[in-house]
Amino acid sequence: QGPELRFDGKVVIVSGAGGGLGRAYAHLFARHGANVVVNDLGIIKTKSGAQLKAADVVVDEIRKAGGKAVANYDSVEDGEKVVETALKNFGRLDVVVNNAGILRDRSFLRMTDADWDMVYRVHLRGTYKLSKAAWPIFLKQKGGAIINTSSAVGIHGNFGQTNYSSAKAGIQGLTSTLAQEGAKYNIRVNAIAPNAGTNMTATIMPPEVVEMLKPDYVAPLVGYLAHDECKDSGKLFQVGSCWVSEIRRQRTTGHTFLVSDGIKPEDIASKWRKITDFEDGQAHHVGSARESTMEMLSSIQQAAASRKKKSKSKSSNNKD
Ligand code: NAI
Repeated sequence: QGPELRFDGKVVIVSGAGGGLGRAYAHLFARHGANVVVNDLGIIKTKSGAQLKAADVVVDEIRKAGGKAVANYDSVEDGEKVVETALKNFGRLDVVVNNAGILRDRSFLRMTDADWDMVYRVHLRGTYKLSKAAWPIFLKQKGGAIINTSSAVGIHGNFGQTNYSSAKAGIQGLTSTLAQEGAKYNIRVNAIAPNAGTNMTATIMPPEVVEMLKPDYVAPLVGYLAHDECKDSGKLFQVGSCWVSEIRRQRTTGHTFLVSDGIKPEDIASKWRKITDFEDGQAHHVGSARESTMEMLSSIQQAAASRKKKSKSKSSNNKD
């Protein structure tokens, strides 16, 4: 184990940090020396019936533990106000953790426009707005880290979550592109797909699983991704309990038809097994959109060249 990864003098915004995962991240950053902006618009009802601002509760906890934190109560849709809180109180910004989230689960048939828009607004637009407000600061100081929150549901889909899964998949696209735009300015952007027992999941998980999936187990990955020690960007990690992994896509080698012959639905049908074969030992990861196109073009050129070679040797065999 190396030296402790510290954030002394750094300023970190954690959205939706009034509970669940965000609260655990805020505590971790504060313990490691960061100045933390605890953003949350939520209200907590105490047993006595009093209503407290969720962000205030977490800020109090952090301060009592000797850390430095301020609260912000704006929606992530007002990202610029959240960033303003960081600048006003701490004078700089180094890390943004886009974590705030809500669910409006319904089967696609029953989903209303309001369910769709609400989930999109908090997850995808909120991530966009907060990142957009932080971006010029990161560009100017030539450094910064953004950690976005996707979900296994954004990767695999899940019944009743068309709104949530597509917003979470959108966050993956946003992460990949921002990572590329930020690369030459030393801005790193990664995404995580967490699993944790929180308000969001407690109703659908048995208590013993909730206990195993403590938000505190997810926080160290977010801490590492936010730290200068981490050089990765544009990646997606899955994390839950004490398990951490990276996830990426694969594609099959596919089949290359000859441009000179054209291509019909029947040709696709005849090669379907090859097109969808992940088990031939050739399926592989493609690193970028450019690489993706280059590989496709080179397969087409190779196929054409090999046809040319074959017909040449055929005609020379015929001559012999
Ligand atoms: P949670 O419900 O415990 O916490 C989310 C927090 O976001 C709440 O405190 C809520 O008040 C706040 N929030 C909601 N809308 C907001 C807005 N517009 N502006 C500011 N704050 C807002 O949920 P949890 O489980 O901690 O989730 C955190 C993130 O992790 C979410 O993005 C969620 O989609 C994602 N996630 C969680 C999983 C889990 O297993 N808990 C699984 C996959 C993804």
